[in-house]
Amino acid sequence: MEGTLSTSAPVSASVNPRKKITTISLRQKKERGEPIVMLTAYDYPTAMAEDQAGVDVILVGDSLGMVVLGYENTLPVTMEEMLHHSRAVSRGAKSALLVGDMPFMSYQVSAEDALRNAGRFLQQGGMDAVKLEGGRERVDAVQAIIGAGIPVMGHLGLTPQSVHQLGGFRPQGRTASAAKRLLEDALLLEQAGCFSLVLESVPARLAELVSRRLAIPTIGIGAGVGCDGQVLVTHDLLGLFDRFTPKFVKKYANFHAEMQRAFAEFKSDVESKQFPAVEHSVEMADAEWVSLLKEVE
Ligand code: KIV
Repeated sequence: MEGTLSTSAPVSASVNPRKKITTISLRQKKERGEPIVMLTAYDYPTAMAEDQAGVDVILVGDSLGMVVLGYENTLPVTMEEMLHHSRAVSRGAKSALLVGDMPFMSYQVSAEDALRNAGRFLQQGGMDAVKLEGGRERVDAVQAIIGAGIPVMGHLGLTPQSVHQLGGFRPQGRTASAAKRLLEDALLLEQAGCFSLVLESVPARLAELVSRRLAIPTIGIGAGVGCDGQVLVTHDLLGLFDRFTPKFVKKYANFHAEMQRAFAEFKSDVESKQFPAVEHSVEMADAEWVSLLKEVE
């Protein structure tokens, strides 16, 4: 264990030569037509792996409430929980732009509250920017946060913190009037100064239209290929979260099944005394052993 710790920590910092991704580099990617890659992370090793894989943006999403902490939805997640996980992610990722997701009730009550909590993500969580959900009703909060020099990412469409108002985790913007309202909200968030916008679970052609109308990059999740970038919840992508998988998720691995297999194999090895083997054990010199036996026998 001592060996593992002393070798893994410094190497991670030195082998990652990528330049730091900024809000400006994301805008430039949109202008060049290069898709932006975003993933969620909630801990140090995942953040490190994503950073080394070249992911542009790492979001410490409040989805951690569901996929890591086991809550029913994202509503119970607190600022303290978000900051705890943000700090771990910031220790693991050095190049990706780090975005902290503002949890429910950390920005809805007042613009001052929103600014204070956004500031905590940068001061205490090691984040570079924050994300919050909602459209026209959030413009004051967005302006207050940006006024303090903190970049803000917006989030429209299926906004999970409004799950009860939306009547469940369901696609949004499917009628002409809902789609028009979403486009208006997107333009308002851009005018308010957001550097980017997540579009979640909206029709692909609506997301493409919004992406064309905005100068800032859109990042889609369940919003089709016409967005300027894509994001997935990492636990969905890895097949780590077994409770349910949204239709828009592509699973790149099945880590839940692989974890179960490894745990069952460990159990069997322990019970049959196959583990630990000699190579997993610590030895002492024969002379020391003989000397001990002389003393105690
Ligand atoms: O919390 C989260 O992970 C998110 C993404 C789905 C964008 O908001």
